[in-house]
Amino acid sequence: MPSTKGSEKIKKTPQLLRGMKDIMPEDQQWWDFIRMRVDNVARAYGFGRLDTPLLEDAALFTRSVGKETDIVEKEMYTFEDKNGSLVSLRPEGTAGVVRAYIEHGMLNRPQPVKMYYLGQFFRYDRPQAGRYRQFYQFGFEVVGEQNPVIDAQVMMLAFNFYAEINLPVTLQVNSVGCGECHDEYRKVLVDYYRSRKNSLCEDCKRRLQKNPLRLLDCKQEDCQVLAQDAPQTVDHLCEECNEHFVKVLEHLDELEIPYVLNSRLVRGLDYYTRTVFEIWPEPYDPPKIEEPEETDDKKDRHKKSGNKKEEEIEISVEPTPIEEPKNKMPSQNALGGGGRYDDLVETMGGQPTPAIGFSGGIERLITELRLRNLPIGDIEKPEVFVAQLGDSARKKALKLFEDLRQAGFKVAESFSKDGLKPQMELADKIGVKFAVIIGQKEIMDGTILIRDMESGIQETVDFKKVIPEVQKRLEKYGVKAKVIDPRKTVI
Ligand code: HAM
Repeated sequence: MPSTKGSEKIKKTPQLLRGMKDIMPEDQQWWDFIRMRVDNVARAYGFGRLDTPLLEDAALFTRSVGKETDIVEKEMYTFEDKNGSLVSLRPEGTAGVVRAYIEHGMLNRPQPVKMYYLGQFFRYDRPQAGRYRQFYQFGFEVVGEQNPVIDAQVMMLAFNFYAEINLPVTLQVNSVGCGECHDEYRKVLVDYYRSRKNSLCEDCKRRLQKNPLRLLDCKQEDCQVLAQDAPQTVDHLCEECNEHFVKVLEHLDELEIPYVLNSRLVRGLDYYTRTVFEIWPEPYDPPKIEEPEETDDKKDRHKKSGNKKEEEIEISVEPTPIEEPKNKMPSQNALGGGGRYDDLVETMGGQPTPAIGFSGGIERLITELRLRNLPIGDIEKPEVFVAQLGDSARKKALKLFEDLRQAGFKVAESFSKDGLKPQMELADKIGVKFAVIIGQKEIMDGTILIRDMESGIQETVDFKKVIPEVQKRLEKYGVKAKVIDPRKTVI
């Protein structure tokens, strides 16, 4: 084999693939927050976690999501493994859940079976704001029940998930009917588009025969204009589907869940029947930044700097446009979506089994939370910093750190730093409320210093009482009392 050593030297450092991103330590708090909320909701509504593999037989997605969908046509990471089998990185979660339901004979469990998941998904999409090639979703699936009350319950769960974290969203609802309704609707839709074919994009021209429903959610501007006046799915529902939809809406009314009827909502996956829905973020109107009166001196400076002021107050995250009507397809992406898939279990080889589910994208959710500066609670932020001066103090501090941590505090340290100044600077930067400081003198006296980082006031306390003393002070800042292990009050 020729040596690659020489050429490797001049090669560029490998970089992150397009559409992928690292989740940095400082950003993990957002992910933890969402994971925690998803787990809480799942527990409250009785969902059990199901983790399916990231890699599945490619046919699983072709058969479920649909051959003519963007996801399968253009976006799947599909390749032959070493055995020559065609496999795909999962582009979505529902298909895997259905495969697992059939494969593990879950039909024999009490129905419905409620499952949830959270993890990575892959779509070879064009990377842009809110669209990644590897992204995270959480999802909830209810398999084995067709009652419309379940549709309302899943939508309530989805809506409340966002409402409870104070994110203003709208629930967009539609019904696409069953297979029979599809056949009837497809005919009228093709009739409508036939005379307008020339205005369609190339993809839609092709889809018109194969999968005309896809024309309604095409993102091309001309196609969107045509879709505005297209026949509506709800006008072509069979009696049973119509009745089902009416009941779903009645339940939503009963639950006082606000919703927007959106006749153009058809979703981008083929397995849907009857109810479909999406969660859209409410348009965001960023708070106006009060501009202080400019002094003559400042005005001059702006002139000199080419008046960069507007650039300075620009926010880094793209705001959701504010002027869109409530049921216009969002130029910004949906936070989540879902619906019924009553035929999917049977299509995949199982017994006829109705089902419904929802999944939400985590990156888009975090963008919205950050944009609005919504609090996620300081779940990661340390409360106390342990500082030390000198070798024997470092030993004591090491043990104290562990004792504080076991007592339930979020603790930070920098044992590799020697001077007090850099340690205090770090404590300040992290934003802890208090620092506990131990040096030679304190070791001799059996004491420790507690420094209030805001006021700078330092108090000397008995070393043995450091935990209750820290606790007492943190309570003043509204930090909830910890359950202190009495054995840990004496170190
Ligand atoms: P979906 O609408 O394809 O539905 O995806 C759900 C959510 O995943 C989207 O609303 C979005 O927030 C996020 N998402 C999708 N693609 C990307 C991407 N490229 N980058 C970042 N986020 C993305 C499904 O996947 C269905 N399995 C939902 C479902 C569950 N239906 C029934 N049960």
